[in-house]
Amino acid sequence: MKHKRSDFPQDFLFGVATSAYQIEGHAQGGAGKTHWDSFAATPGNVVNAENGDLACDHLNRFEQDLDLIQDAGFDCYRFSTSWARVLPEGRGAVNQAGLDFYDRLTDGLLERGIRPCATLYHWELPSPLADLGGWRNRDIAGWFADFTEIIMGRIGDRMFSVAPINEPWCVSWLSHFDGHHAPGLRDIRATARAMHHVLLAHGRSIEAMRGLGMSNLGAVFNLEWAEPADDSAQSENAAALYDGIYNRFFLGGVFKKSYPENVLDGLAPHLPADWEDDFETIGAPVDWCGLNYYTRKLISHTDAPWPSLKEVQGPLPKTQMGWEIDPDALSRFLIRTAREYTGELPIFVTENGMASSERQQDNDRIDYLDLHLSALQEALNQGVPINGYFVWSLLDNYEWALGYEKRFGLVDVDFKTLKRTPKASYHAIKSALASI
Ligand code: FCB
Repeated sequence: MKHKRSDFPQDFLFGVATSAYQIEGHAQGGAGKTHWDSFAATPGNVVNAENGDLACDHLNRFEQDLDLIQDAGFDCYRFSTSWARVLPEGRGAVNQAGLDFYDRLTDGLLERGIRPCATLYHWELPSPLADLGGWRNRDIAGWFADFTEIIMGRIGDRMFSVAPINEPWCVSWLSHFDGHHAPGLRDIRATARAMHHVLLAHGRSIEAMRGLGMSNLGAVFNLEWAEPADDSAQSENAAALYDGIYNRFFLGGVFKKSYPENVLDGLAPHLPADWEDDFETIGAPVDWCGLNYYTRKLISHTDAPWPSLKEVQGPLPKTQMGWEIDPDALSRFLIRTAREYTGELPIFVTENGMASSERQQDNDRIDYLDLHLSALQEALNQGVPINGYFVWSLLDNYEWALGYEKRFGLVDVDFKTLKRTPKASYHAIKSALASI
């Protein structure tokens, strides 16, 4: 890699990220069923109908995985806790084995000198709660606050940082409007409710953790830069609306206690009654802002009903996901987020990385990481208070609707033998982090 640790501020943190359902092996250890299990079991939803039953078997191999994190020299590990592993029915009886697992994981990190950075929800909703309407049901905010108290009551005393929910756009829009992720709905009313309730649940969870005396609490958003596909005013409006739906709705809710007007134009009739009254909870102060960044999109207008926009193929080089590589958009996002939303609040890039079919000599990934670290430095030079950067991901894993084919890991996983083999990018980061 071109970069090395000493190119960054002295207390800058480097980390690596994963999530529970994507690596643990959900069928093991007494976890309850989730909406991802039934989504994956429904033909046509997931490539090869693959699921997270075994995934990387991290549940049984986590010591080895923590050794890999330590050996690479990372300062932090961002993992998620599975709601259904802790509360198989989503509420009520606790699975002690689930709580014990996160306790051992936490201690395993601390023993290795790695800071534990938890995300409470990374997408696998317990099925009994999905049966009650899941994110469409306002009660989910209370259920999630209860889960927060139970899991953080056990491990919260040892967390470096915690964020309630990974990527509210994916939880709501991608899953209830596009139908690409569980629960696979395509319904605007369900979408509007999920978008609002996911933020309400975030706020209730923050309040619950403050009640436990915890600090260093944040929110993690996925941002995607939207460019108009052509010079027309219509495409410009379409790109601004895409930006509103994808980025500004969620940042606005948490940091400005308001939703953007262009999004409300289409969504207001479908939002739950008295939604404005929830902003005090949604906007509960946080200590940092996490941005997950992968790509940008070219957007143009269509004559379909609201939001009347479509994505257009762009000309930039693409990853195995088909996502365009645009590091400049990361700088622009970091600068814009600080200027318009978060001010002096520390920002972390909580996910960044690429899928590559190259299983050993993944030089494309090394280049990608280098380019994005340069973009991050550009924002640092402009005074944006960025405190850390996390690579997605430690291991090749279950890439949701795309199954096991798309590989994001610094470490290769052979899904037949579950053998882990560090790739060239792992070795490159390891030397970058070691060199001063
Ligand atoms: C993010 C998700 C993560 C992974 C990466 C590629 O949106 O948080 O689980 O799927 O994309």
